[in-house]
Amino acid sequence: MQVHERGRLPNRLPADDDHPYRTGAWQPTFVEYDAFDLDVIEGAIPEALSGSYLRNTENPVMPSLGRYHPFDGDGMVHAVRFANGRADYRNRFVRTRGLAAELEAGTPQWAGIIESPAKSLRDGWGARGRMKDASSTDVIVHAGRAYTTFYQCGEVYELAPETLESRGTAAWAPARGVSAHTKLDPYRDELIYFGYGTEAPHLWWGIVDANGRRTLEESMELPGPRLPHDIAFTENHVVLNDLPLFWDPALLAQGVYRPRWRPDLPTRFAVVPRSGGAPRWFEAAPTYVLHWINAFEDGSTIVLDGYFQRDPLPKPDPALGPYAALHAMLDLSRLQAHPYRWRLDLATGRCTEEPLFDRVSEFPSIAYRAAGRRHRYAWSMTAKPGWFLFDGLVRMDLETGREQVFRYPDGVYPSEAPIAPRPGATAEDDGWLVTFVSDTRRDSSEVHIFDAARIDAGPIARLALPARICVGTHACWAPG
Ligand SMILES: [Fe+2]
Repeated sequence: MQVHERGRLPNRLPADDDHPYRTGAWQPTFVEYDAFDLDVIEGAIPEALSGSYLRNTENPVMPSLGRYHPFDGDGMVHAVRFANGRADYRNRFVRTRGLAAELEAGTPQWAGIIESPAKSLRDGWGARGRMKDASSTDVIVHAGRAYTTFYQCGEVYELAPETLESRGTAAWAPARGVSAHTKLDPYRDELIYFGYGTEAPHLWWGIVDANGRRTLEESMELPGPRLPHDIAFTENHVVLNDLPLFWDPALLAQGVYRPRWRPDLPTRFAVVPRSGGAPRWFEAAPTYVLHWINAFEDGSTIVLDGYFQRDPLPKPDPALGPYAALHAMLDLSRLQAHPYRWRLDLATGRCTEEPLFDRVSEFPSIAYRAAGRRHRYAWSMTAKPGWFLFDGLVRMDLETGREQVFRYPDGVYPSEAPIAPRPGATAEDDGWLVTFVSDTRRDSSEVHIFDAARIDAGPIARLALPARICVGTHACWAPG
């Protein structure tokens, strides 16, 4: 492996930092590397594996103004590119306007999501406002451009997918903001996006074509400000949502942004034609869904898979000390997130629902060509109880109900693992899962490649990275 340091930002965090989400597996990195011809520690890189795995990371540079939440951290994209049985790695900060302003000031300028926006020193971005748009949540590659986005809405930052060089913001993005979880339809080569805010209309969505041009944007009225995180789509429809966990309207009027769980209200789904038009609304049992697995059409029915949370706002455990509330909201075991299916019948207007698997998991992957189409398999991340840290992978066969599981030892944490299809593959699971792994025991990081059909056999290849990297949230696969 040939390693080149290409950049470095100053570490302004406290030397004795003890925040649970800025230390350990969440310890940020400050050096930007290019590393060529990664060393293979075990196994072999499949010759046919061709393309790039990109993952965004919350990687804070500045101390927080008040309370820190891991989703506040500055965006950093890590990417590994495979071709001809070899792999190269790069990582770069997302050069957001907020990061530039804080580097220029030398101090933090914005309070994060669990702190009062009144503590921010200047106006900012986001559905809530007066936040930094860290662009650290999600990453996707569309029409030859890599885009990073932020879950509280903001600008869409564009990076060169091969060099990760920042190229400013995407021209197609509306000024009112775009949320994380833009969706790629590989059949039409379209990107579907959404955004949300506190002012009516509270929700909007749109489509970007294969040339990177916005071709449609529509607004949708909701009963008030909501906190959607993700959307789904099928061949002909987009599925948006109005979930009964949102900022308390009375407190919101006083400038206090406190999420409330309202189990007295239904979950509501809006099905809208991709060409635009009025939504058809469906009601289901109350829950919060962070991520949808996929959606597809089955005759007149939209089949929607996602993770149902049995307890979307768990009570903090006081024994966990000053970070009790943070631990409660980030623990998938406490949220009891598990794979679930809703069926929205456009002919009858009825919604039926059922759990798919009992095992707690989240952060889905489906076959690249299954997006918006019928899928048989879904892969998910399992999580370490008590933490927002992944500890393994599960492959779920929705036809047979069978699961395959791979679990990492304590102290070793993988990241979201999208599927790289084998070129010419026809079977959904003919390909590989790729993930970054942070090993806090050895203070190192690796790239792991799994056979998508046999994840229980463990990684078929392990590659070394030049330094330990921080765990992060969303990732994508971009075919070569
Ligand atoms: Fe997400």
